[in-house]
Amino acid sequence: MSKQQVIILGSTGSIGESALSVLSELADSFDVVGLAGGTQWQKLAQQARYWNPKYVALADTSHQQSLKAQLPDGCQLIDGIDTLTRLVESVDCDCVISAVVGAAGLPATLRAVELGRKVALANKEPLVIAGELLMSTAERTGAKILPIDSEHSAVFQALQAGLQEDVERIVLTASGGPFRDATESELENATVKDALNHPTWSMGPKITIDSATMMNKALEIIEARWLFGFESDQIDVVIHPESILHSMVEFCDGSVIAQMGTPDMRTPIQYALTYPRRFPCPASRLSLTDLGQLTFLEPDTQRFPSLRLGHRVATEGGSTGAVFNAANEVCNDLFRKGSIGFCDIVRLTEEVLGAHDRVDHPKLDELIDADGWARREVESMLATSPIKKVN
Ligand SMILES: NC(=O)c1ccc[n+]([C@@H]2O[C@H](COP(=O)([O-])OP(=O)(O)OC[C@H]3O[C@@H](n4cnc5c(N)ncnc54)[C@H](OP(=O)(O)O)[C@@H]3O)[C@@H](O)[C@H]2O)c1
Repeated sequence: MSKQQVIILGSTGSIGESALSVLSELADSFDVVGLAGGTQWQKLAQQARYWNPKYVALADTSHQQSLKAQLPDGCQLIDGIDTLTRLVESVDCDCVISAVVGAAGLPATLRAVELGRKVALANKEPLVIAGELLMSTAERTGAKILPIDSEHSAVFQALQAGLQEDVERIVLTASGGPFRDATESELENATVKDALNHPTWSMGPKITIDSATMMNKALEIIEARWLFGFESDQIDVVIHPESILHSMVEFCDGSVIAQMGTPDMRTPIQYALTYPRRFPCPASRLSLTDLGQLTFLEPDTQRFPSLRLGHRVATEGGSTGAVFNAANEVCNDLFRKGSIGFCDIVRLTEEVLGAHDRVDHPKLDELIDADGWARREVESMLATSPIKKVN
């Protein structure tokens, strides 16, 4: 059987590296034909020398020529602008692993869906921004979007136990992040260092901060709404600090089907690649007897209002996902730079959302406009009423 050809968008990141680790165990079935990164050109050059893909792409134009000089023979650099999208267009591949962080991943992910490719999706923000557009495009082109996010992979697996119309609700689990038990005043004074100290998952910086604010769970509620087509009020969240039970589906007869495993992204990455087959995976095995017990708690939306916002955006739809995501991206970045406090991330995002006039069934250019508007709105809110730096 011929090997499946794979492109990784975001190969230099946390998910990208885990995907390469999975692919190194599946070398008989998959060929890496394209790799793409943002700024880490030396890491990308190293990956290219090891994997020998046909093409590489780097978004950062200032280092494209340095990268080119270090590529192995036969590996072509896609240079200039829009390189990730042009990489997707250049290779007639079987699967695109979408693992860029943030809105930056939208154009290339959308292009892969337009071309009818199988997309193994870690980059949740494109679905948050343009869920309606991506899913309707996939329906038209036949593209399959398979989730890598562990919660959505779990729901995807559990859904196979029954029919969509028999599902009553889905329950996404959340570790609760580093501030699960923090008081409101501790949250107000949370530092970047503490927020980056996730108790169970090792991830890139943006999603780690999103986990601390629980904006990540809000993004996942919206992601689930579009990916699986459930209403916002069918999507619940439960706090599960051990991150062993990755999410569950409750059917109308009361049966709850869950997927469990150790917290290692290689398991959902591999499943998205090999679905519907399963193969041995390098992730460590689960021992329930070693764990002894699992904990489940009600989320506190007073201390973590982001969850309420996630449901609101999933209900309203239209351009609100683009605005919500963009405001959160800017605020997440400002917090990491020490320019705003931890609680300002959700506070400002909610304010921007409140100032937005929703566009229903938006086209791509309207979503790009909404994204740009929200980014400017955060800046202008901060310019008119500056926030005192906390850390
Ligand atoms: N990490 C996890 O365990 C996890 C779990 C579930 C879902 N996810 C989702 O997966 C996505 C990736 O997360 P991550 O933790 O792997 O992030 P990460 O470690 O920060 O990696 C992000 C990747 O995106 C690239 N990138 C950033 N900006 C770019 C741009 N403007 N153009 C092109 N490439 C760009 C980075 O390139 P450079 O590093 O070269 O700049 C890097 O390869 C996110 O959407 C996240 O929510 C992650």
